[in-house]
Amino acid sequence: MARSNDFLTALGLSNYTPAKLKALSEELNIPTKRLLYYDEENVLPLGKDLDTIQEKRNISEIELMIQMGHCDDRILAAIKSRPDIIVPLIEEKSAKKRNKSPKKVLETSYGELYKSDCIDLLQQVESDSVDLIFADPPFNLNKLYPSNIDDNLKKHQYLSWSKEWIKECVRVLKFGGSFFLWNLPKWNSSLAECLNTYLTFRHWVSVDIKYRLPIKGRLYPSHYSLLYYIKGDKPTTFHPDRVPMDVCPKCLTDLKDYGGYKHKMNPKGVNISDVWLDIPPVRHTKYKRREGANELSVKLVDRVIEMASNEGDVVLDPFGGSGTTYITAELKKRKWIGCEIGPAKDIINRFERIEEEKQILNDYRSKTNQLFTNEVKIKRKKAGLWTCDTFNNQSSSQQ
Ligand SMILES: C[S@@+](CC[C@H](N)C(=O)[O-])C[C@H]1O[C@@H](n2cnc3c(N)ncnc32)[C@H](O)[C@@H]1O
Repeated sequence: MARSNDFLTALGLSNYTPAKLKALSEELNIPTKRLLYYDEENVLPLGKDLDTIQEKRNISEIELMIQMGHCDDRILAAIKSRPDIIVPLIEEKSAKKRNKSPKKVLETSYGELYKSDCIDLLQQVESDSVDLIFADPPFNLNKLYPSNIDDNLKKHQYLSWSKEWIKECVRVLKFGGSFFLWNLPKWNSSLAECLNTYLTFRHWVSVDIKYRLPIKGRLYPSHYSLLYYIKGDKPTTFHPDRVPMDVCPKCLTDLKDYGGYKHKMNPKGVNISDVWLDIPPVRHTKYKRREGANELSVKLVDRVIEMASNEGDVVLDPFGGSGTTYITAELKKRKWIGCEIGPAKDIINRFERIEEEKQILNDYRSKTNQLFTNEVKIKRKKAGLWTCDTFNNQSSSQQ
């Protein structure tokens, strides 16, 4: 469904020149900059601009919407009322098999890595065969990847491509399986619409990561979006980690007032929420495997895999990068399928040093599912602050 210059085309300016655009701007009394905004963002004008367009160009709102590829309840009702007319009009564009054979470049105890475009690989994967999908696609931020992919697509091209690989992911996901999509809020707000067509929404997890410099005239962007969807009405697997209670990093005192309820706190930790403040950005060169890549934190992927899969389950990640998902899945005894369109040597090298990764993962895991980590517990005891043992000891001395 590639859209291109749909707004201007609807107004009769398919191949416009600056002169033609200027003439249209004068005719409609709408600045050229604003006309280009409607066109590039594929945004329907509402308000005085729409009134003028309807009047001067003799085009109705519905017609403009349809020409721009938008749909509302009125259009949908009309379509639903006449499938006999609509269906034959639609050329059956069932995803054409590309017939490309992805090249296997790594096989491990649990997984297989292919050098391939993700859609080519997905087309080879059996329907309803994967338990968990985690996808971290390029964000279309004009970044230079080792694969030299075009990371500066037009909005409609990026969304159209995303919908194509998402649909293939949904096809291969088992009923009850989980789909996680990591992206900028800007893209996930649009992609959620596509996911809602096939899957059930569970959460929009905001992961606090200061990812850019402040932008003039904008709020400081400080979170990524992690969309969490299920195929079917409920997940086959859901066992989220519990996390340690927040304490002051310096004096280790409580940051919240738990009043008389401290003894009721679960010694296994606090329920994880849909705002994650504890995911480190992988910026430290000690951990970062590949210069310039958006390598994710093992902690993030570990949390997702732990929440939505069991040992022996199949995890698929269509965007290899430096292989964070594959390494984490391998260490957690999940079968995995992966691909990378660019060089795969970073992933292969990483598997050669998997023992280092094991330590990083073990370190994260040793800090989950407990109210206080050992280190914090010892320090709090020394400072005379309460720990779970305080209440255990009190209740045993009262017996
Ligand atoms: C954001 S990075 C993934 C990083 C990864 N999650 C990690 O932590 O290492 C996205 C990767 O997808 C790859 N890629 C882009 N388009 C692709 C496609 N069509 N098929 C497969 N891989 C693709 C890029 O080369 C890039 O390495």
